[in-house]
Amino acid sequence: MPLFEKTLYATDFSPLAEVALDYVKKLKEAGEKEVVIVHVVDDLSVELPEGADLLKEKELYKVLPEVDQEYVMSIIERLEAVKDILEENGLSAKIFLRYGNIPEQIVSVAREEKVKLIVMGAHGKGLLTEILLGSVSTDVIRKADCPVLIVKKREE
Ligand SMILES: Nc1ncnc2c1ncn2[C@@H]1O[C@H](COP(=O)(O)OP(=O)(O)OP(=O)(O)O)[C@@H](O)[C@H]1O
Ligand SMILES: [Mg+2]
Repeated sequence: MPLFEKTLYATDFSPLAEVALDYVKKLKEAGEKEVVIVHVVDDLSVELPEGADLLKEKELYKVLPEVDQEYVMSIIERLEAVKDILEENGLSAKIFLRYGNIPEQIVSVAREEKVKLIVMGAHGKGLLTEILLGSVSTDVIRKADCPVLIVKKREE
């Protein structure tokens, strides 16, 4: 079985997460076949149980207050767009939209899905870009059982 047959791509839709997506595409050359795309929401106006999957649990987001529904629906559209890009590149892809602690949820999907690699940016939407690593990437590196590929910036 190829080393990185199944990978997890974590995105907050930031520019660096976009760069990380280029690596996810290129990993096909290393035998990658399937990609699990993950986004974690932690800022809804109502609190849901940790780990709730807004897509899978009978479209849980449809019972949320309207403001949250619109927000979640816009995220689903962005995730679907990423899925389309990967499928156009000949990979199979599926989407996870979790609620809760961001790094914990990323690591928990990685375990459930038995991925062989996690791909993510060194930074995201946070403003402290002079710090080497963001808090989500730092915690995923600490807690994951599989290798983690951290993308720092676009190659010149
Ligand atoms: N909510 C999220 N869902 C999925 N992946 C995420 C999420 N937030 C961040 N990531 C992933 O983690 C990478 C690093 O982002 P991180 O949040 O650690 O940095 P930051 O936003 O600059 O810092 P901080 O959040 O600590 O202020 C992103 O490029 C993305 O790949
Ligand atoms: Mg962040």
